[in-house]
Amino acid sequence: FLVEKGNHRHFMAKEIYEQPEVVGHTLTQYLDMAKGQVRLPFGDQIDWKGLSRLTISACGTSYYAGLIAKYWFEKLARLPVEIDVASEFRYREAPLPEQGLALFVSQSGETADTLAGLRYARENGQVILSVVNVPTSTIARESDAVAPTLAGPEIGVASTKAFVCQLAVFASLALAAARARGTLSAEDEAVHVQHLIALPGLMAKALQLEPEIETLARELSKARDVLYLGRGTSYPLALEAALKLKEISYIHAEGYPAGELKHGPIALIDSDMPVIVVAPHDALFEKTASNMQEVAARGGRIILVTDAKGAAHCGIEPEATIIMPDMDPTFAPIVYALPIQMIAYQTAVFMGKDVDQPRNLAKSVTVE
Ligand code: G6P
Repeated sequence: FLVEKGNHRHFMAKEIYEQPEVVGHTLTQYLDMAKGQVRLPFGDQIDWKGLSRLTISACGTSYYAGLIAKYWFEKLARLPVEIDVASEFRYREAPLPEQGLALFVSQSGETADTLAGLRYARENGQVILSVVNVPTSTIARESDAVAPTLAGPEIGVASTKAFVCQLAVFASLALAAARARGTLSAEDEAVHVQHLIALPGLMAKALQLEPEIETLARELSKARDVLYLGRGTSYPLALEAALKLKEISYIHAEGYPAGELKHGPIALIDSDMPVIVVAPHDALFEKTASNMQEVAARGGRIILVTDAKGAAHCGIEPEATIIMPDMDPTFAPIVYALPIQMIAYQTAVFMGKDVDQPRNLAKSVTVE
């Protein structure tokens, strides 16, 4: 069916702006809001308690959603996670645990490598769970259980709303796994559920940062390379941020774990290269702040995406600071994804690029 852009210049803009709504919509399928509990749409089909390990595989932006999920499954549910891009997973003959759970993430549900990874896992006796946006897709049909994202049709080649919905689903799955495995009390579950319910409102606030981001994008459009840094769940978000920027603006960008700065990328720091640091004021903030100070000491240009506390305690004066609303840090990537997408979008628009149809890229990659 026909999907229109409405008042937006591009599908990508429309899809960025839809995010509070589609995340809210997705969460209603995963939470019993009145009871403050997670309630999975596929019921008790998965034996979370009996699992020794979870294997996740996906491509592109869906892979980065899986990387963030790894932090949540491991921390909240104490469930070890093995994750790889599907093009590697399908060929590396990975030994898989008996009766293991393999999870595949895909917006389209048709990505050739992801589907091949799914079939490999099936042949190796795994229970297959998929997080997909197209419920009629091949990946959904070949799965034992499907965790749908309710992002609606995504037209822009660079994934935005499907990504945040994948994260909302993963947050819910991690909480369900944690309850089943006895690593989360009912009280703590209720607190996390409240934090999830607050997300759409926080995302709506984050969208109001557009004017600041537009100003920043003008500067970024002059850059040849951009480095993104983050720690913890902000690290996969830094990877996704770099992917978004290169996909649509064609500016070379890299995402790096902030702690790895000293093992290589610090050699690149000069007064030309913007370093975008994603750092909510969480338990790891001080560590990231000291990495930022190392960049500043070498004359690097820092753009900091943080909250008011982070801005006050970063110990330097960044070239620009994007101040996000305060929130609980656990599921903050779901909100911090928005300025990251808007930075890429505004930069590409300013440079006159075709953001919905970037060169050489396809929305759904059904060939190897
Ligand atoms: C392509 C798209 C990306 C997407 C990736 C995985 O590269 O351009 O936006 O993240 O495929 O697609 P999937 O449909 O499996 O999530």
